[in-house]
Amino acid sequence: MTGTADSRTPPTVLVTGASSGIGRATVRRFAGQGSALLLLARGRESLEETAREAREAGAAEVLVCPADVTDADAVESAVQTAVARFGRLDVVVHSAQVMAYGRVEDVPRRVFETVVDTAVHGTANVARSVLPVFRRQGAGHLVVVSSVVGQITAPLMGSYAAAKWGQLGLIRTLQQEVRDAPGVHVSAVAPGGVNTPIYSQGATYVGRSGRPPAPVYSADRVARKVLSLLERPRRLVYAGVFNPIIVAGFRLVPPVYDALVGPLLKVFALAGDDQRPPSEGNVFRSQPAGNATDGRWRAF
Ligand SMILES: NC(=O)c1ccc[n+]([C@@H]2O[C@H](COP(=O)([O-])OP(=O)(O)OC[C@H]3O[C@@H](n4cnc5c(N)ncnc54)[C@H](OP(=O)(O)O)[C@@H]3O)[C@@H](O)[C@H]2O)c1
Repeated sequence: MTGTADSRTPPTVLVTGASSGIGRATVRRFAGQGSALLLLARGRESLEETAREAREAGAAEVLVCPADVTDADAVESAVQTAVARFGRLDVVVHSAQVMAYGRVEDVPRRVFETVVDTAVHGTANVARSVLPVFRRQGAGHLVVVSSVVGQITAPLMGSYAAAKWGQLGLIRTLQQEVRDAPGVHVSAVAPGGVNTPIYSQGATYVGRSGRPPAPVYSADRVARKVLSLLERPRRLVYAGVFNPIIVAGFRLVPPVYDALVGPLLKVFALAGDDQRPPSEGNVFRSQPAGNATDGRWRAF
């Protein structure tokens, strides 16, 4: 495994977005290996719940750190806490994100900017604090949860597309910048549809909430992909069997892609049974009641 002081020792891990969805499933996987973990998200309540699950699953030690990834000082302090407490930091999984549905002209400016800020400045803040630690240690692995939407676009998802394209640009830059540090790795996992609460938690200005498009993966399946990267670091892996085909369609036949993506999104990526008034969802603050590992869809 990359990044660990000794390949037999479970890695020490910091997870952002640790209290729900893919982050929470990842916490459980590392806990099962006996890792020491620092869990970061905005809301304390669901972090404490996740910490309980992690202790039950076998974590060596669990710290919770309520913090917003857009707050650079708070991220720095969380990273320093992990290093001071665990002695080193082997792996950071960055999964924090919020999303919003609506035409660019209909999404309130602050909602749009917060979605982008969370992905772009959140990732920059994490990298700025974590990579110097990895360089000092001569080892470490930053895994960022990206999205297939970092390589395609879809109507009604403008803020999320801007967020994820910006984030992937940053990830690719970081990969180039750490080439001088052979033990340091930066990877991305790009899922398609995953059964997490992000869809019901997000902001919406389209009258309905979103839903994960098929094939819907479980959060745990994506978490296993994250862990597989530690065994064999790669720049980007998909978690979604159709992702390469969708990306190829976007790049190679844009007229066909553009004609199909709007109608397909309305049928397959909006929840027909979940009518919603305009809502900012959890974009500005944690909604602990909605955080969980899994959403309400069937996944495999
Ligand atoms: N679900 C999918 O279908 C899917 C598909 C492709 C990519 N992804 C990506 O997967 C990652 C995880 O998403 P998910 O589906 O697991 O979402 P989720 O279930 O909604 O979890 C998001 C987590 O991020 C935390 N968070 C949100 N804003 C934050 C901030 N500013 N600072 C710190 N923590 C913050 C949330 O807790 P608090 O609200 O308490 O802070 C929560 O723990 C995201 O990068 C998302 O873009 C998801």
